[in-house]
Amino acid sequence: MSSLLSQIDDIKDSFVQDKVKAQRAGDFVALKNQYLGRKGKISTLFKKISDVPAQDRKGFGERINSLKQFISKEIEVLNNLDSKSKKKYSDNIDFSLPGSPFTKGRLHPLTIVTNEIKEIFNRIGFSTVKGPEIDTDFYNFEALNIPKDHPARDMQDTFYINSELLLRTHTSSTQIHHMEKNKPPLRIISPGRVYRNEDISVKSYCLFHQIEGLYVDKNVSFADLKSTLDYFAKMMFGQDVRVRFRPSFFPFTEPSAEMDIYWGLKTESDYKVTKGTGWLEILGCGMVDPNVFESVKFDSSKWRGYAFGMGIERIAMIKYGISDIRKFYDGNVKFLEQFKI
Ligand code: PHE
Repeated sequence: MSSLLSQIDDIKDSFVQDKVKAQRAGDFVALKNQYLGRKGKISTLFKKISDVPAQDRKGFGERINSLKQFISKEIEVLNNLDSKSKKKYSDNIDFSLPGSPFTKGRLHPLTIVTNEIKEIFNRIGFSTVKGPEIDTDFYNFEALNIPKDHPARDMQDTFYINSELLLRTHTSSTQIHHMEKNKPPLRIISPGRVYRNEDISVKSYCLFHQIEGLYVDKNVSFADLKSTLDYFAKMMFGQDVRVRFRPSFFPFTEPSAEMDIYWGLKTESDYKVTKGTGWLEILGCGMVDPNVFESVKFDSSKWRGYAFGMGIERIAMIKYGISDIRKFYDGNVKFLEQFKI
């Protein structure tokens, strides 16, 4: 008897599951046959009533009946809903109505600016290459003339993974990867993410993006470098852009310089972003140090080169007048929606 009773419960459970499947398939006829048909689960159970001791038959019958009622009701509801929705669909649809608008995704401002910079350099013969974000100490520092324990390492506060592996602090590591695999003359740019364990502020973040440039050929001069970067600034910010070069130091270039773009100095945030100077630095650059050529076995008496590394966030800040670098990383849709290609 108790096993027959548990069959009633089992049928109820399986009905609940089959109902969901039938709803998904949109077919209730098979469901109805399976449970309420002549050879369905309910009839089969009714047939077993003769196995039940006489005194329990009434109770058993009542339980099957209530299960039958439950299932019938459920199927009726399903059928009603189904016919209603069919009716509604066919009666009320107006095919002449315009479609409902949906929001389209947009490119992130940093992607827009990266694409623009790439295009500016591609136009004058630079091809685009990629380098790894996790790299070895050799590619990020040593091959770039920054030996272990050299004070110049302080310039870039590094996230080390272990004593050999690190998150690259600049895209200059790509210069080495590229020169190892290719012979001069070379003309490449390499965009990508870089990481520094720096204090976060309106113009610095622990991760940011750079574009590295490298040009190696015979007779390359500092004048070539300056005029290329001048061309870039005019293409990026317009003919009236104000640019200045300042002497600087990088272990992998000699001489070295930094390039600033005039931002303005009217509001309080202009003071903050430009440290009261009105100028914002966007890149470091210089003539490739002969030691770097030696580390990739290029003949430094024969080849000359220039390199530069620009900060994409800084360029986007100037282009769009954004005075806080953190805005690029907030994921705030209201901010991001403003950028159209
Ligand atoms: N790698 C330098 C930085 O991140 C920039 C740079 C690149 C300077 C190439 C000179 C030449 O600060």
